[in-house]
Amino acid sequence: MKLGFIGCGNMASAMIGGIIAKGLYKAEDIIVSDALEASLQKARTELKVNTTSDNKEVVAKAEIIVLSVKPQFYEEVIEEINKEVKEEQLVITIAPGKTLKWLDETFGKPMKLIRCMPNTPALVGEGITGVCANENVTEEELNKAGEILNCFGSYEVVPEHLMDVVVSVSGSAPAYVFMFIEAMADAAVSDGMPRAQAYKFAAQAVLGSAKMVLETGKHPGELKDMVCSPAGTTIEAVRVLEEKGFRSSVIEAMKACAEKSRSL
Ligand SMILES: NC(=O)c1ccc[n+]([C@@H]2O[C@H](COP(=O)([O-])OP(=O)(O)OC[C@H]3O[C@@H](n4cnc5c(N)ncnc54)[C@H](OP(=O)(O)O)[C@@H]3O)[C@@H](O)[C@H]2O)c1
Repeated sequence: MKLGFIGCGNMASAMIGGIIAKGLYKAEDIIVSDALEASLQKARTELKVNTTSDNKEVVAKAEIIVLSVKPQFYEEVIEEINKEVKEEQLVITIAPGKTLKWLDETFGKPMKLIRCMPNTPALVGEGITGVCANENVTEEELNKAGEILNCFGSYEVVPEHLMDVVVSVSGSAPAYVFMFIEAMADAAVSDGMPRAQAYKFAAQAVLGSAKMVLETGKHPGELKDMVCSPAGTTIEAVRVLEEKGFRSSVIEAMKACAEKSRSL
């Protein structure tokens, strides 16, 4: 058994789905534990991985361990597995606010720690993960973790002080984007478009625009200017968005998000 997950909820399932689909690990090489029998049942039937209700069994059987419980359960889980976990095992964390220093102190021994912040588009292979590691992790081990993260999107190594920014710019960002898509669809529905069609237009507009930013390398402002013809329809929408504080709302919301992450 090579890869273990403690906690098999939304994020672990998204990660495992990508890892198996990309063929990096076979389902039989993965073991997961969870407090909830229903989650284990789902992991057995949908992901076909090995399951256990005992977190220590994951530690005993896996070379790499992903701590995929909510941040508030980190302390009790680390306490529970601490005797079994060995210093040569790689521990990957995905919780906001749980710093390498906090993890180091909570384990109380020189562990190899990789701190990650993924996001839910991992479910469709389009996640992005911010990563940092402590001094006990070799470059080879970091690359090994990177291979796992590449299975459900891409990753960027960032200095640890930027991890709370990663939470706001990608970890939590799908929620704001979904709100934006929903609002655009509401407007289209109010102007007479059927609901399902409105979601399709709005979502595809977001997907295509994001691809343009990533693939053209052009500044987002330049791409915006390209859509705004003089005295046209788009600049009218831009005028109202500015008047209603659109950009400032996004900036303030994201700063609140990063601050919350710092406080966890
Ligand atoms: N979802 C996101 O968008 C997102 C994005 C980036 C990072 N993350 C991070 O990913 C981590 C997991 O999030 P998630 O959304 O996957 O949460 P989740 O769906 O609640 O999954 C966590 C699972 O762990 C189980 N669990 C709780 N305590 C446990 C214990 N002591 N031992 C074993 N299993 C235990 C939970 O069971 P119960 O239901 O019984 O509690 C649940 O099934 C979190 O740290 C979160 O902050 C999430």
